[in-house]
Amino acid sequence: MRTYLVTGGAGFIGSNYINYMFKKYDNEIRIINVDVLTYAGNLENLKDVEGRENYTFIKADICDRDAINRIFEENDIDRVVHFAAESHVDRSIVNPEVFVQTNVLGTATMLNAAKKAWELPDGTFKEGKKFLHVSTDEVYGSLDDDPTAFFYETTPYSPHSPYSASKASSDMLVKAYMDTYRFPANITNCSNNYGPFQFPEKLIPLIIHNALEGKKLPVYGDGKNVRDWLYVEDHAKAIDMVQEKGRLFETYNVGGHNEKQNIEIVKTIIDILREELDDSDPRKEHLNYDLITYVADRKGHDRRYAIAPDKIKAEIGWEPETMFKDGIRKTIKWYFDNQEWMEHVTSGDYEKYYEKMYSNR
Ligand code: NAD
Ligand code: DAU
Repeated sequence: MRTYLVTGGAGFIGSNYINYMFKKYDNEIRIINVDVLTYAGNLENLKDVEGRENYTFIKADICDRDAINRIFEENDIDRVVHFAAESHVDRSIVNPEVFVQTNVLGTATMLNAAKKAWELPDGTFKEGKKFLHVSTDEVYGSLDDDPTAFFYETTPYSPHSPYSASKASSDMLVKAYMDTYRFPANITNCSNNYGPFQFPEKLIPLIIHNALEGKKLPVYGDGKNVRDWLYVEDHAKAIDMVQEKGRLFETYNVGGHNEKQNIEIVKTIIDILREELDDSDPRKEHLNYDLITYVADRKGHDRRYAIAPDKIKAEIGWEPETMFKDGIRKTIKWYFDNQEWMEHVTSGDYEKYYEKMYSNR
């Protein structure tokens, strides 16, 4: 049975990936989830897999060399899928150092531990071992409004935020391991994900949460920045397909030609929530476009991201399956039906974060 070591599996994409993998492979695989459980890690996301004999959770920091080495020593790991990171751009602007620590040094620790466990005396690697580094389209920088311009795998890196700079650095480390040691790895650079279990500091769950609470809906700058949205399960599927069918040492861009301006996303959420709420629901009266509030722009705000997913389609046959109109409705319905989940993650520290981030906006 193949054993996966998933880092950051209690976060948004990691937990969707683990849920997806067990739905697909059931008892054919074993997953070890290593997560230190920062504010963004939530084991509630994994309640459907908790208790499975072929699933283990280990609370550990990816920067803790001894702990990570021990996991490799005690388990014959076949695949690493490395999600663990600090992931929020706004937080990176306020506190860059933890992004360098986790995203750069943490990735170095993971690479070293896997290399140590997998390398043979002649410098080659054990058969079938693979490391997948989950990265972002933000490493490519920002596009202007020219609709024919896209990010390709060959686009030079030009990160702007401390977050994207730290992810670019971690990508470079993975590339260096592949080039220097022929370390068996792939990198995926994906566009903005949306779906269940996303922490409500990110645009879509934040707007859903605020709208249901009758709070202002903060739109940065002119609201015309463009993101290329992908349903999270399609990303999980892409990662699996890259590990199964991708060529080692290659980078694959993941995205789905689904560009939207932020203001369009916010209005779509309001429209769908109004359809979902009963006329008798008191929240409906105030839930309208008047809640939209233009606030101070994000520092260094990238204008537009747009992925060209041509390579992953041509080589691997991956394409997004979820149309945005269906995915966004499914997502909103999920948050609507799981308000208890939202209450749990928005209590305590997150309330303080929200006050701090949005009090001057
Ligand atoms: P997230 O913030 O929801 O989850 C990150 C997870 O990593 C959390 O469970 C957290 O506890 C864990 N973690 C953080 N520091 C850790 C440490 N030192 N040791 C162990 N675990 C630690 O992030 P996400 O949105 O799920 O993103 C996952 C990965 O995908 C990241 O690498 C991110 O850069 C990348 N990515 C995200 C998106 C997106 O739209 N969210 C798009 C492309 C790529
Ligand atoms: O492109 C992939 C990246 O997508 C990932 O690598 C990151 O981990 C992930 O956080 C995401 O980054 P963004 O900065 O694009 O996502 P965020 O949800 O923070 O913001 C989306 C857009 O919405 C962006 O243009 C900023 C804007 N925004 C965001 C928030 C939180 C607002 O207008 N108001 C808000 O309150």
